[in-house]
Amino acid sequence: MSRGLVLAIETSCDETAVAVADSHGDVVVSKVASQIELHSPYGGVVPELASRNHSLNLRPLVEETLRASKLCLSDVDAVAATSGPGLASSLLVGDTTAKAIALGLGRPFYSINHMEGHLLSPFIGEGTAPPAHVALVVSGGHTMLVSVRGVADYHILGSTKDDAAGEAFDKVGKMLGLPYPGGPEVSCRAENGDPDAYEFPRSMLDSGDYKFSFSGLKTSALYLLQKLGEPIADEILNDVCASFQEAIVDVLVAKLARAVQKEGATVAAISGGVSCNPRLCDRAKEEAERHGIELRLPVLSHSTDNAAMIAYAAVCRRAAGIPASSFNSDIDPNLKLA
Ligand code: KG4
Ligand code: ZN
Repeated sequence: MSRGLVLAIETSCDETAVAVADSHGDVVVSKVASQIELHSPYGGVVPELASRNHSLNLRPLVEETLRASKLCLSDVDAVAATSGPGLASSLLVGDTTAKAIALGLGRPFYSINHMEGHLLSPFIGEGTAPPAHVALVVSGGHTMLVSVRGVADYHILGSTKDDAAGEAFDKVGKMLGLPYPGGPEVSCRAENGDPDAYEFPRSMLDSGDYKFSFSGLKTSALYLLQKLGEPIADEILNDVCASFQEAIVDVLVAKLARAVQKEGATVAAISGGVSCNPRLCDRAKEEAERHGIELRLPVLSHSTDNAAMIAYAAVCRRAAGIPASSFNSDIDPNLKLA
């Protein structure tokens, strides 16, 4: 009997990822080949290096995924790939490979929005109809609040006017001389620092809408570093990280809480790479408990870029009766969620 298996490929940025999910939305196998070490010397992702390495890594990773799931290609019932947003040359590798596999097998192809993958990731493994909720999606490229009414029924409440939350972490991490990507490094140092040691702006905290702005944090960090002078003692660096992180977390948690209340939601979710941040998770959990809201977070391996979330989004779409995509569909580096 067919298990309704979806093979998914994710190559929107610097992670090459392949996964298989079944018709219940359970992940059979999920593999990620990270390129972090490759881009690390440059302090950020180099697009051409990323796409060349996706091309090199993808075929072995598909084979490894199939081997690990004890499947052969002919067991696959549909193929999915991320079609945007992301780096054009990286997206093309995954999109073209997935279409080629689907065409060769004579199976349908699902073109998936990367942000939909993140958005649904907290519900992976829990059936194919995630509950209505308010979602905060916080990644390296996006920060947005979304009212989720059903699969493919998304209403953007607000997003960032400039830098994404993860981008702010990465830029300030770089400024502090921490390894790339800055987010995990800053959050690790912040655990041993004092969040009240330095003042950082809480931009748009009281703007009364769901817009975010994080670019001012860079300037504040720059002025602070000039004032502190070099070299910075480890303890002070930890305090800077903790204070900076607290400013971001304050705004994210306050705006999520307001959106949940205004939308009358009983479920809230946080997803994307920044949802790995322990302080963000703890503060959001406290707030949710205080208001009797169910807070959903993805498991760590589904927080940063992965293909399990792309496979899951495709399974949910198929289960919701949404038709497969055309083989003529294009990638879109600026693809919008809604
Ligand atoms: O979702 P993701 O893997 O890729 C994008 O779609 O952008 O998110 C990556 C982002 C990076 O900016 C990274 O620094 C950030 O997530 N990140 C974190 C943490 N772990 C990853 N930011 C803050 N604290 C963390 N622990
Ligand atoms: Zn992502």
